[in-house]
Amino acid sequence: MSDRQLRVSKIENGTVVDHVTAGQALNVLAVLGIDGAGGETVSVGMNVPSERLGRKDVVKVEDRELSQDEVEVLSLIAPEATINIVRDFEVVDKQSVERPDRVIGVLECPTPDCITNADEPVETRFSVLDDGVRCAYCETIVREDIAAHLAVE
Ligand code: CTP
Ligand code: ZN
Repeated sequence: MSDRQLRVSKIENGTVVDHVTAGQALNVLAVLGIDGAGGETVSVGMNVPSERLGRKDVVKVEDRELSQDEVEVLSLIAPEATINIVRDFEVVDKQSVERPDRVIGVLECPTPDCITNADEPVETRFSVLDDGVRCAYCETIVREDIAAHLAVE
């Protein structure tokens, strides 16, 4: 599609999370803590055609930049995502997300008898695999729907 046929308008200032794995846009919003109640201006494209990915989601958040922690969690649900910082309508910075080796304190282990779910002062710790994440304590592997295991902040 050419610029004349953009599905979602360009933004003046803010962040465009592009090349999001198709179907993950709502999870991206969840990671960013956006549910609409905060008044942010947000545009979302879902399953839009992409040369690189076939189909992709796009999330544009106006007047907001993302923290490194947020980008780290995004890499788990949208490994191909590109984070574009827009100022005065121009992309001034473009960053690919990088998958960290491990994530600490951002996911909850789904195994009820994992030590991280006991009443102990233990932070969750997951190693990041090619196709999921593994709890460092009980070795449970989460492959599907990682966003459902995000620790609530
Ligand atoms: N974008 C936007 N508002 C702007 C500028 C860019 O919403 N003022 C969006 C574009 O629609 C695109 C993303 O930000 O989804 C990246 O823009 P750009 O770097 O111009 O596009 P490409 O060159 O196609 O990016 P890439 O090479 O990463 O695919
Ligand atoms: Zn565990």
